[in-house]
Amino acid sequence: MKLIPTVLFAAAVAVSGQAMADAAAGKATYAAKGCIGCHGAGGVPVAPTYPKLKGLDAAFIKKNLTDFRSGARPSPVMSAMSAGLSDADIDNLADYIGTL
Ligand code: HEC
Repeated sequence: MKLIPTVLFAAAVAVSGQAMADAAAGKATYAAKGCIGCHGAGGVPVAPTYPKLKGLDAAFIKKNLTDFRSGARPSPVMSAMSAGLSDADIDNLADYIGTL
């Protein structure tokens, strides 16, 4: 059965290709939605008033953006910033920030 390793390899390539595409889309969203204006390029904040995102993992980012958007985590700034994010935007942002 030489077929099975080939199929598994193809699936692994497809999955990792998808994750890279999401991180690339997240990087574009991070700039387009203005996150970069406070949290800075590469997740290093422009001022100490803003939390550093570099080093946080994707699951944490996804949960917190979802909670800001729903109001489960109240924040005057971040509830406004997350209001316009779609589920796909949040997934992509989490994938991107998770790589920083
Ligand atoms: C105007 C400045 C500003 C902008 C723009 C901004 N943020 Fe924030 N962000 C903050 C502040 C301030 C906090 C702390 C909020 C709090 O806990 O009340 C925060 C918190 C966060 C946190 C939680 C960090 C932690 O350690 O708990 C995440 C994740 C986050 N922002 C992501 C984003 C993303 C993604 C965007 C773009 C859609 C964005 N932010 C845009 C100011 C900003």
